[in-house]
Amino acid sequence: MEADKTPIIIGCDHGAYDLKEKLKTFIAEKGIEVEDAGTHSQDSVDYPDFGAKVASLVSTGKFKRGILLCGTGIGMSMVANRFPHVRAALCSDLFSAIMSRRHNDSNILVLGGRVIGEGLALELTRAWLETPFDGGRHLIRIEKFDQLD
Ligand code: RB5
Repeated sequence: MEADKTPIIIGCDHGAYDLKEKLKTFIAEKGIEVEDAGTHSQDSVDYPDFGAKVASLVSTGKFKRGILLCGTGIGMSMVANRFPHVRAALCSDLFSAIMSRRHNDSNILVLGGRVIGEGLALELTRAWLETPFDGGRHLIRIEKFDQLD
């Protein structure tokens, strides 16, 4: 399947800086524009700062989708899911990455750079980029998220 060409905002902390750089190249090679919200080195930083940058841009609609990475992916997913309209999915297996798009219309993919290897990270990203939302009954379900704020 052809990947959606909608631009991506990407961010990470030091725990996944190297993986973020590889993902940027991988995504750009697919002809998709990638905006880098940092961090820009392996120096230690606080993941909420970068998670909030990316999640706020997705929350307000400036970017339709984003990718966040930290050591485990847990901190970034906790931060991102505090923002309205953000549906961040922490994935470390292919089935979850695909189903997070099909059933949950996930708009932020979260990966743990210390949990999964580069090959799997690229494969999960490829699948996530290519998989559309199923809509239908799943749309009714995610619309209920707005009543929870
Ligand atoms: C940084 O050491 C680490 O705590 C962070 O990358 C992440 O795993 C937090 O959830």
